[in-house]
Amino acid sequence: MIDQNALKDRIAVVTGASAGIGRAVATTLAHHGAGVVINARRAHKLRELADEINEKYPKINGKDPCRTVQGDASEDAVVELMLDEAADHFGSQPDLVVVNAGRGLSGSVMTSDPGEWEEMIRTNLLGAAKLIRAAGQRMVELQKSREWPGKPADLVVIGSTVGRHISPFSSMYGSTKFAVNSLAEAVRRELGPKGVRVTLIEPGIVASEFQGVAGYDPGSFGELMDRISPVLVPEDIARPIAFVCSQPAGVHISDILIRPTRQDYP
Ligand SMILES: NC(=O)c1ccc[n+]([C@@H]2O[C@H](COP(=O)([O-])OP(=O)(O)OC[C@H]3O[C@@H](n4cnc5c(N)ncnc54)[C@H](OP(=O)(O)O)[C@@H]3O)[C@@H](O)[C@H]2O)c1
Repeated sequence: MIDQNALKDRIAVVTGASAGIGRAVATTLAHHGAGVVINARRAHKLRELADEINEKYPKINGKDPCRTVQGDASEDAVVELMLDEAADHFGSQPDLVVVNAGRGLSGSVMTSDPGEWEEMIRTNLLGAAKLIRAAGQRMVELQKSREWPGKPADLVVIGSTVGRHISPFSSMYGSTKFAVNSLAEAVRRELGPKGVRVTLIEPGIVASEFQGVAGYDPGSFGELMDRISPVLVPEDIARPIAFVCSQPAGVHISDILIRPTRQDYP
């Protein structure tokens, strides 16, 4: 259990926040007192969430607690814009960045649509790497300017159970998440000694827009969902993220794998 003000004074950036896990993470961080900059491609969905947060939670130093940056999170300019927006609006560099934007793809390397590969790899891997690099550089500088162990700085990366356990049924998506998972651990080893916590969150099946975007067959996927129900909801991922980020700066819970209890595979 963490208290409502556990993340007060933290400045967060969350990608892929117009739906699912990112939306729940942004809402949860705002609930715990953080200022949040939210990103996704659908402007109206972002606006809707920002209005909700700004109405519900108090201003931070006279500023709205939520700002939006619309755009493709795999573009360099968008990555810089979200970090700059956080710094400009809240008056300090972001110290809690959630690398979440991503998509799935139904099928294996043999059966999935190769026309979808490039966009998925660009979003899931290149976009994640660009944000990890840009946010990591800023956080290292931020931590240099602070007493150690003073305030924490967190880079939270959303991987997947299929980034740890091989699934032949979603091998192209899984391969992007294997890459993201290894990137997160590599950058943890690189930035941890500089006072930046890099945390890997590996969800199992979470009900969100993910299944529709990936193109899963509603019939067979529905059967799986029924067999292992209840599957996770986005808030089940947001809660542990808030918990991890609210630990003292010298404590790092670096990797959390979360499945529905009855999910046996992967
Ligand atoms: N759901 C699961 O079972 C599951 C399991 C393991 C891991 N994950 C991972 O969790 C993360 C979030 O998934 P989710 O379940 O919340 O899916 P979701 O409901 O489909 O949400 C995905 C979010 O990412 C945004 N997005 C997609 N491409 C983007 C891009 N290029 N630039 C900016 N935003 C982009 C989408 O918004 P716009 O369309 O508005 O841009 C949306 O807000 C992903 O990395 C996914 O791989 C999900």
